[in-house]
Amino acid sequence: MVVSRRGSGSITLPTGQTMAIHTRTHEEEDLPHATKKTMADHLRKYESLFTLTPQRMRMIVEAFKDSLELGLQKPKQIVPMIPTFVFGWPTGTESGDFLALDLGGTNLRVCLVTLQGEGKFEMTQTKYRLTEEQKQDEGQKLFDFCAECLKTFIDTNFTDEDGTSLLKPGELLPLGFTFSYPCYQTRIDHGELIRWTKGFGAKNTEGRDVAEMFRQSIEKYQLPVAMTALINDTTGTLIASHYVNPKTKIAVIFGTGCNAAYMENVKDIEKINDLGISEKDQMAINCEWGAFDSFEHEHLPRTKYDIIVDETSNKPGEQAFEKLISGRYLGEILRLVICELIDEGVLFLGQETYKLEIPYVFETAFLSLMESDPTDELLMIIGIFTHFFAVETTLAERQFFRALAMLIGRRAARLSACGIAAIVGRMGYLDEGCLVGADGSLYNKYPGFADRVHEGLIDVFGEKGNNIKTVHAEDGSGVGSAIIAAMTKARRDVGLYPHV
Ligand code: BGC
Repeated sequence: MVVSRRGSGSITLPTGQTMAIHTRTHEEEDLPHATKKTMADHLRKYESLFTLTPQRMRMIVEAFKDSLELGLQKPKQIVPMIPTFVFGWPTGTESGDFLALDLGGTNLRVCLVTLQGEGKFEMTQTKYRLTEEQKQDEGQKLFDFCAECLKTFIDTNFTDEDGTSLLKPGELLPLGFTFSYPCYQTRIDHGELIRWTKGFGAKNTEGRDVAEMFRQSIEKYQLPVAMTALINDTTGTLIASHYVNPKTKIAVIFGTGCNAAYMENVKDIEKINDLGISEKDQMAINCEWGAFDSFEHEHLPRTKYDIIVDETSNKPGEQAFEKLISGRYLGEILRLVICELIDEGVLFLGQETYKLEIPYVFETAFLSLMESDPTDELLMIIGIFTHFFAVETTLAERQFFRALAMLIGRRAARLSACGIAAIVGRMGYLDEGCLVGADGSLYNKYPGFADRVHEGLIDVFGEKGNNIKTVHAEDGSGVGSAIIAAMTKARRDVGLYPHV
């Protein structure tokens, strides 16, 4: 991004487009804008709505801990605490070639991972963008698309220059499938989709075994692969991050969706006590914490904008925690505040605002850009509002928008800290300290997000909060999935699979 401080320049947008921007010198006289004082008054109101005090955070942490415990005791709770059948930590010596397929919120990714042992690996990957139609179409078609992309990848990476396959006849490549939606598992290569999240709504999929559906697509395209594990992105992230740094005890994703995984003692997962798994074992738990406080809405501080986001979503009542935090929703929350001020006649009087009135047009990436605008005149914010929404802003308004983005982003980070604190508290990691492997667009790209999570941890735990550090995670859906496939193979080789 190159932005001159003198009033004009160019910026590169998240879409990759370059945009020229110019400041107007007479803007404040041309149009009836809100005064600086009016904007400051409004900001005070939003400050009180979006600010979480340390005391409130501690209350949320306590309620969160109770939900985690309940999810471990009984099946089908609001926070489902899903046993993943990933047993214990990797040794770091796992090695071999593995395919990984990652169906995330935005992209589909196919990877070939070579684990070299000693925490080292190499990876080749291709990404495909998912369209909105694919997310809502028949589920089987979505899995067919996954198989098609996998076929292209295998054809490209496993043939020589003459196009002859490099695979031996009958050879099957082991594949880990990262499917980042809540699935009940009774085995590692099985998973019944509880519900779609992140705006997905593909038909005839909820309640079905998605591993089986994907296997049908693999057969249809006659792919030389054996799907060995179905994993969640958080579980993959946990295992991959521990593979390279064994101090990692928890993994979190803050991206289009949000969630966490950690390693639990089997003896404390009461709901699977009857499976005959040794009490000494450990198993990774996919918390699916995005569902915390769903339906009941007892513990989280929701503003009226959050309630609108929820009620107008394709899944009202669900993913209550995620809707306050994840990248899919933050832009929309800010847009709703702006729309309210437009309706009240505070903002953009006399200007056409229809472009701002379309749900979800205000991307969370804009909040990141607004917060990181380096110029005194906030040229980046001018650019966003003129280029995408064709409205003119004054400096006071831009300062207000930036402050609002800060409030919404900060609340998301502090709530995230509450979730982490609940797991830390449950597992007693505070004194010895631990690393939390973190990934996702919000964590990686939103300025200050990680620092705000850390501040939040200190607000909950006091100085000891410093013992808990989030670090940029290793690639869970690629590397993590490969390691889990290798760990599963090792269990199978000693006869421990598929019994549990
Ligand atoms: C899904 C989780 C996933 C998270 C991050 C949530 O919407 O329910 O399974 O781990 O997004 O991708």
